[in-house]
Amino acid sequence: MSKGIEIYLDKKRTIVDKALEKFMPQPSGLASEMITSMNYSLFAGGKRLRPILCIAGAEAVGGCADNVLPVACALELIHTYSLIHDDLPAMDNDDFRRGKPTNHKVFGEAVAILAGDGLLTLAFNLMARHGTEGGSREGVLMRVIDLISHAAGYKGMVGGQTADIAYEGKEPDPAVVHYIHRHKTGALIAASVTSGAILAGCNEEQERSINRYGQQVGLAFQIADDVLNIEGDSSVMGKDIGSDKARGKMTYPSVFGITDSKRAQEELVDSAIDSLTGFDKKADPLRNIARYIIKRKA
Ligand code: IPE
Ligand code: IPE
Ligand code: MG
Ligand code: MG
Repeated sequence: MSKGIEIYLDKKRTIVDKALEKFMPQPSGLASEMITSMNYSLFAGGKRLRPILCIAGAEAVGGCADNVLPVACALELIHTYSLIHDDLPAMDNDDFRRGKPTNHKVFGEAVAILAGDGLLTLAFNLMARHGTEGGSREGVLMRVIDLISHAAGYKGMVGGQTADIAYEGKEPDPAVVHYIHRHKTGALIAASVTSGAILAGCNEEQERSINRYGQQVGLAFQIADDVLNIEGDSSVMGKDIGSDKARGKMTYPSVFGITDSKRAQEELVDSAIDSLTGFDKKADPLRNIARYIIKRKA
């Protein structure tokens, strides 16, 4: 992996982490344990990929991080909520996440569920309160909130998570795994990069291209997650490996085999980069992130 992209990701992660610290509440009052639990998972680590994609989407059309930070942070709050709930005993029943015990292992299931609820709702509060501070008009912000709520909800991530659970232990089915991955992971990733571009004032054609890039990168990202669950190093990833097979998850490798899964992720990344043909070098971070997504070790 080129050094350039690592430096870029580090820089943006620092910007995102600072903004998250500013936006997150301190534990206080009768609900302080739940607030502690929200902060525990949010600041446990994490690549901050969705907020960084939001920033890179803005940069690709001439904007910058300052145009999008509240929305970028909201995306990380939604993502973190989804991880807390994903790890619950009723879902994937995982013990480690971001290098630490999972939220419910530390705080118990009730607080973990509520911390997820708290993060999800805070995300929308943050966008409503601060979303125009980067210079966007209210109408533009409303479009972005519409896009993100759609991607996170029953037609997006929640729908994908539902199918992911419903199809555990079922016969391998290409159409089903494609649905699961596009929805549980692809939708929020596509919404992240597209939101950044919209907030930075992109035109319709740019929006379509960046959205296509996001869909392709989002699917490739989940295929890479499946491959890492087989071949990865759990100490580097901060979560357990082998769990997909143990739970009978329908994954790309379980349906297509590992070789074809790796081929598919490479083809998706190539197509994602092709989607950016009309963009100049300001879109290079997006191109490099696409390559990084299938080379990453964590
Ligand atoms: C993990 O996402 C869950 C998936 C959607 C595959 P990330 O790999 O982005 O997790 P963090 O944010 O870095 O912990
Ligand atoms: C996570 O998918 C997707 C969401 C949390 C929406 P996985 O269950 O495959 O991800 P990991 O491997 O636990 O991070
Ligand atoms: Mg899961
Ligand atoms: Mg999981």
